[in-house]
Amino acid sequence: MSYTFPKSQALFERAQRSIAAGVNSGIRKMEAPVPLYFARGSGPNLWDVDGNHYLDYQLGQGALLYGHAPAGMADAIAAQARLGTHWAAQCELEIEVAERIQRMIPAAELVRFNNSATEVVTAAFRLARAHTGRKLILRFEGHYHGWADEGLVGFANPPAVWGDDESPARTHPSKGVIPEVLDQFVVARWNDVEHLRRRVDACRGQLAAIVFEPVLCNTCCLEPVPGLLQTIRELCDRDGMLMISDETITGFRFGAGCAQGYYGYQPDLTVLGKAVGGGTPFAALAGTKAAMAKILSGEVVHAGTLNANPLCLAASKWSLDAVTAAGPEHPAELRRLGGKLMAGLRALADTHRVPLRPQGPELIFHAVMLKPGAAEGPIRDYRDYVRRHDPARWTHLRRCLLETGVRAIERGLWSISLAHREADIDETLFRAGKAFARHAETWTAPV
Ligand SMILES: Cc1ncc(COP(=O)(O)O)c(C=O)c1O
Repeated sequence: MSYTFPKSQALFERAQRSIAAGVNSGIRKMEAPVPLYFARGSGPNLWDVDGNHYLDYQLGQGALLYGHAPAGMADAIAAQARLGTHWAAQCELEIEVAERIQRMIPAAELVRFNNSATEVVTAAFRLARAHTGRKLILRFEGHYHGWADEGLVGFANPPAVWGDDESPARTHPSKGVIPEVLDQFVVARWNDVEHLRRRVDACRGQLAAIVFEPVLCNTCCLEPVPGLLQTIRELCDRDGMLMISDETITGFRFGAGCAQGYYGYQPDLTVLGKAVGGGTPFAALAGTKAAMAKILSGEVVHAGTLNANPLCLAASKWSLDAVTAAGPEHPAELRRLGGKLMAGLRALADTHRVPLRPQGPELIFHAVMLKPGAAEGPIRDYRDYVRRHDPARWTHLRRCLLETGVRAIERGLWSISLAHREADIDETLFRAGKAFARHAETWTAPV
């Protein structure tokens, strides 16, 4: 039976009278038929206020690598809350968390904590500019580095203003940004090594850093083509730029050593968010001693009242120990479960003649919905994705999935957690079967 959401509907109507647009992050408005209100979660399970049960692959926008409300983490936070919720001063816990990150990530010689990855990205850009005395940062089309002015340049370029393939435009999806911000960036296409070389050569000596998501999770889950990450490292070394790896999503999901351990590269600075705090407002900047030097000397300001908040530190310590305890099975087990889910979704797509093509490194993947007549085969970059993906049809299928109790991220991203088990994947595919049947029956392409 299809889920209904009367209590969420009523709460959303009430919220609009006190909360601007009814939600506290713009993307949450995308959830159809209504932004949902949740009552509780446990492992891979989530219950909304209408009593509907979901197998969750949205996982707090990917932050809940350990699933919902793990008991050990709840105990750790509660124990810390009884001792103190906030000091804006030092405690031993912050050293314990920093030492764990150092042990897990070789390039993390030193760390600093913040409350969101958006802040950490800001700090990384500031450090890179101070380190090099240059202002430009090279970033890739479709990569997301937080919602601040600088993080969004080139994120969601609409086709009408793309610019040609060789020189992607510097656009910004938000009004209210001073235009000079755009001038601080050079935008390149992802997954084209020779194009990247040309973009760097064209402004040689002016670039402070290259920043990237090692897997482009925010657009279609695009893994780097062979040699791309090595080329970024080589160009950074050649021209004295900093290599900034934004591991907000990939950090600890790709194993204790993060994506940099998984793909085998060593950045100068690493942005950690989401899983590092297990769902609490916690993020970390990790870097080599050389890259962090301007913080040590005090030339670069890095601050924050709630930095290294003890409740977040307690959650982070528990989370990092959970990753370590998962041992060498992590991320192989996530990949196995994700691979089974991707294959199952693809089989359902074939059965119901739905052009869904799951793509990605399995432990996280994207549900590509091909437009009518679009070519088959893996999607390679942002432009290729926009040309071939059918967002309206995906949104329809996503709603059918939601109404049978399977929840993926609105834009099409699916994350597996360490709490998902084989039986959860089986149940997900059973429910998805009904959702695909309903989608196939009720989908009509807009004319
Ligand atoms: C790759 C990446 N960087 C940065 C951010 C910003 O993180 P936050 O929302 O914690 O500020 C995100 C958020 O989704 C992200 O995916």
